Amino acid sequence: MENEEKKLPKIMLTGDRPTGRLHIGHYVGSLRNRVELQNTGDFDEMYIMIADTQALTDNAGNVQKVRDNVVEVALDYLACGIDPSKVTIFVQSRIPELPEFTCYFMDLVTLSRLERNPTVKAELQMREFGESIPTGFLTYPISQAADILMFGASIVPAGEDQAPMIEQAQEIAHKFNSLYGEVFVEPKIQLPTLEAARRLPGTDGKAKMSKSLNNAIYLSDDAKTVSQKVMTMFTDPTHLQVSDPGHTKDNPVFIYLDAFCKDEHFAKFLPEYPNLDALKAHYERGGLGDVTVKKFLANVLNDTLEPIRQRRKELENDIEGVYKILEEGSKKAEAKAASIALRARRKMGIDYFENHKLIEKQQKAYKKAHEQEAALAAYLAKNKK
Ligand code: TRP
Repeated sequence: MENEEKKLPKIMLTGDRPTGRLHIGHYVGSLRNRVELQNTGDFDEMYIMIADTQALTDNAGNVQKVRDNVVEVALDYLACGIDPSKVTIFVQSRIPELPEFTCYFMDLVTLSRLERNPTVKAELQMREFGESIPTGFLTYPISQAADILMFGASIVPAGEDQAPMIEQAQEIAHKFNSLYGEVFVEPKIQLPTLEAARRLPGTDGKAKMSKSLNNAIYLSDDAKTVSQKVMTMFTDPTHLQVSDPGHTKDNPVFIYLDAFCKDEHFAKFLPEYPNLDALKAHYERGGLGDVTVKKFLANVLNDTLEPIRQRRKELENDIEGVYKILEEGSKKAEAKAASIALRARRKMGIDYFENHKLIEKQQKAYKKAHEQEAALAAYLAKNKK
């Protein structure tokens, strides 16, 4: 009774695959938002998962890469300002309840439902598995549902590409609850408010920033590398001469500015313009060259990234300390998942060793059956005579 009156704690969970260092797409799409949420104190519990198990679904032959990037991602989190005293940072593979419930959840999802997941579809195409799709890869949305549901998270801050995963998690929560009783919260995605931050294109203008496409700017890139990458960025292909009118929409350089630049940056680096609207207007009119805009963007990016780089350098001197944070976070996260798992197993009726009522009930039933058997045998023996 007492429990039912208590308000549900407000819980946030999100995560990243450790397949590489984090880039500025991760930053505007999610990391920046996580730090803000942490500092507003809106949540009772916050979890950030380094999804190594998910990363292994298409890297079984490359465990070393995943392994090495666990600490790299942790360094990126901490460098961005995620505070382990407020946010539990943990490693997915350390939580045994996750694969356990992934198995039960698999029984609630059809194969055709998995094959319809648009994000998985796009990823399959990019990876060119052909006929050799690893089962674990196709089913990772189910394991991701466990990632979210086993922590009771109601909010998942993530990019647009994660929406189908959250939908899958909602469906599983709903199905489980209606089959066995209320246990799981149906989570909601929280997209970045800024349109430009939702899907930052690569420096080549391609839809997504990724290591394999070599079109990403990393949080740990030094200032010179960032400037070089910006100078090679794709812009408006119709803007051939400085005097030509240009397009700012769908122009990667301006999308990055939308995501990163603040009015202060103009005062600091390009005082000829009061703000981004004025810069865009000039570009669209004609007479503003790409080099000027790119130089400004490089300054804006480096201004934003410099404190992150500095903090990362300091943290890099204490790798043992970073692993300690992950170990402690994983212990804390495990305790949380274990308590939800206990309730879920109880509802399912597979809490064999904890459920004394069930044991007593079964014992009583057997006792009764044995008594009836004995009575019947005695009756038959008597009537034979
Ligand atoms: N699928 C996410 C990605 O590719 C990573 C992830 C794993 C995740 N588990 C999660 C994100 C749970 C949000 C919630 O980046």
